[in-house]
Amino acid sequence: MAITILAIESSCDETAASVCVDGQILSNCIANQTVHEKYGGVVPELASRAHLQNIVPVVDAALKSSNCSLSAIDAIAFTQAPGLIGSLLVGAQFAKSIALALDKPLIAVNHMQAHVLANLIPEQKPTFPFLCLTVSGGHTQIVLCETPVSMKVIGETIDDAAGEAFDKTAKLLGLPYPGGPLIDKYAAGGNPRRFQFPEPQIQGLNFSFSGLKTSILYFLQNAGASNVYKETFIATAEEKKKFVGENLADICASVQYRIVSILINKLKKAAKETDISNICIAGGVSANKGLRQALTDTGNKLGWKTFIPAFEYCTDNAAMIAITGYYKFLENDFVPLSISPSPRATFMV
Ligand code: KG4
Ligand code: ZN
Repeated sequence: MAITILAIESSCDETAASVCVDGQILSNCIANQTVHEKYGGVVPELASRAHLQNIVPVVDAALKSSNCSLSAIDAIAFTQAPGLIGSLLVGAQFAKSIALALDKPLIAVNHMQAHVLANLIPEQKPTFPFLCLTVSGGHTQIVLCETPVSMKVIGETIDDAAGEAFDKTAKLLGLPYPGGPLIDKYAAGGNPRRFQFPEPQIQGLNFSFSGLKTSILYFLQNAGASNVYKETFIATAEEKKKFVGENLADICASVQYRIVSILINKLKKAAKETDISNICIAGGVSANKGLRQALTDTGNKLGWKTFIPAFEYCTDNAAMIAITGYYKFLENDFVPLSISPSPRATFMV
């Protein structure tokens, strides 16, 4: 019998729903929330309200475009953690209501596990074990995957996430939120070697991005003259603006080059230490063209088999919740209706 999963994702600022049958994604619908743009970041209360408005039409669209009726659904999967609590609650309550009404099992999905398993959506899947560099707005992790339901974090950021490094840099440059895709866009026309930003010396497989952020701040306050703190910064606000305006592409390319090199160098170390050469990337930052190219180039050089999800499965989406739900269904991994969402759940598999 075919297994049909309806999945709901609402952990941050995207309301998303997807239907998958036997691990094949039939629909992947997303309502993006533009309300946050003018605030320079996601406003939790506004996100919850937008989820409430979007969830019925998005689930409806996912069912319609998959040609599935509610009666064909075998289980409902939803993002249980981590994320903004108000946002998570909307998706969780909605998923529970459908499960109760249809008398179907409920599957709780960890958002970060789902980003990793987005790599199992395409026909060409990595074989196990594989390593996944998961890079998003809130997380930066290297995950060792033994099976779809058994994985562990072997390295992670000790401060900012890679997505935050992109977004905070963009904010310093006066670009709107989320700035990652814009830095990617401007970097394409710039020289990545023009400006030098430091690579942090962090032991083991962990990452750090807060020093880079500070270095970019000083660099801009000195209008490109220096990366280090000065008692009196050289540039006036006008000069800083002029410097950014005249050098935007090179600044974006140089910052992106450093973020990508930090990520790839740790991935190389992890591959060497674990002797694993199936390497995946996942999460919003895996949409970055510089990172995608660097992974392919490094893979070609070191003999890795590399896997990169399609763009639509990199940033937050419900297809990744559906595929994770499918593998959990195969394990009979269901949860009771009394389950609560959790903003900070650690990696649980
Ligand atoms: O996975 P995701 O959609 O949401 C979270 O779970 O956080 O990731 C969002 C992050 C944001 O920081 C965004 O700026 C970044 O992914 N991002 C990018 C690109 N597309 C999204 N960063 C760099 N280049 C991109 N093309
Ligand atoms: Zn995410």
